[in-house]
Amino acid sequence: MYMIDANRFMNWVLGLTLAAGALVFLLTLVFAMIGGPKLARVRSYLYMFSGLFGAFAVAVAVLGFRGQKSGDRPWHVFLDMKYQPKYTSQGQSRFFADGRSNRLPPANTVPFDGTDYAADAGRHEGPNPDFLKADARYFTGIANPDQKDKDGVPAKPVWKDGKLAGEGYYVNHVPPEAVTAAGGWEPLLKRGQQQFGVHCAVCHGTSGRGGGGEVAYGIVGAKGLSVAPSNLTGPDVQAQPDGQLFHSITNGVRNMPAYAHQVKVQDRWAIVAYVRVLQYAAGR
Ligand code: HEC
Repeated sequence: MYMIDANRFMNWVLGLTLAAGALVFLLTLVFAMIGGPKLARVRSYLYMFSGLFGAFAVAVAVLGFRGQKSGDRPWHVFLDMKYQPKYTSQGQSRFFADGRSNRLPPANTVPFDGTDYAADAGRHEGPNPDFLKADARYFTGIANPDQKDKDGVPAKPVWKDGKLAGEGYYVNHVPPEAVTAAGGWEPLLKRGQQQFGVHCAVCHGTSGRGGGGEVAYGIVGAKGLSVAPSNLTGPDVQAQPDGQLFHSITNGVRNMPAYAHQVKVQDRWAIVAYVRVLQYAAGR
């Protein structure tokens, strides 16, 4: 389809009009030079047209051709509320010493409510203390984030007389918040048993003994996973602090996938507690 560029078309019209104006102006000069009373009428018309075309030329000179760009500030005939005494974001402030108009919230500010940023448009019931996930022990199972050696291997907990005596990298025991949130140890373990049955038993078996092939306790393990699900009741998992188990569920471990997106934090602690029950039962 043939398209007419409106700017180019109008600029041609403008150009032709200006050319016509220039011609009229020349004619006016010629007629003015010839002089004589006979041509007075023609001259008066020419003067009028010269004036009109001249005004047009001045308008074009000031306003420019169509599509012309300008680096100047636009003309604001009516200012409306375009200019206000206010600070714009990223703007400059002469009031604050650092010159920024954007201010950081005061140190240690905690948002009053909100679930998470993505779902923030929802209805807010009230303050949500977990919003920042500031409680690292509960939300990550990590007690001392800096206790890793130069190869990134987390520090082991301290054992004394067959008991965990000091914390290494991971939290030694299920945090009390998890027990409180569940309403006590019994509901926590019940929940753990139920969640273990949903998420872990397929591979590790309801007994937690794992294995593969002929000796598999879990359904999936029996189907011949190339890597056998670990025996959760064995001495090496028994020796791990609770935080490490939590961490394994959250982030996965070696060939085992992460379950953070399926099992919520509170339920992960419940499962950890229940794994201890399985270990206790296996020890009999
Ligand atoms: C898809 C099968 C599968 C599921 C489901 C599964 N695991 Fe595993 N798990 C594995 C496999 C396989 C390994 C061994 C990985 C390896 O050694 O590479 C493993 C290893 C582990 C270990 C051993 C960690 C260590 O340091 O030795 C723990 C603890 C564990 N799983 C806990 C769980 C818990 C708790 C759940 C339930 C939330 C769960 N697993 C669900 C397959 C699974």
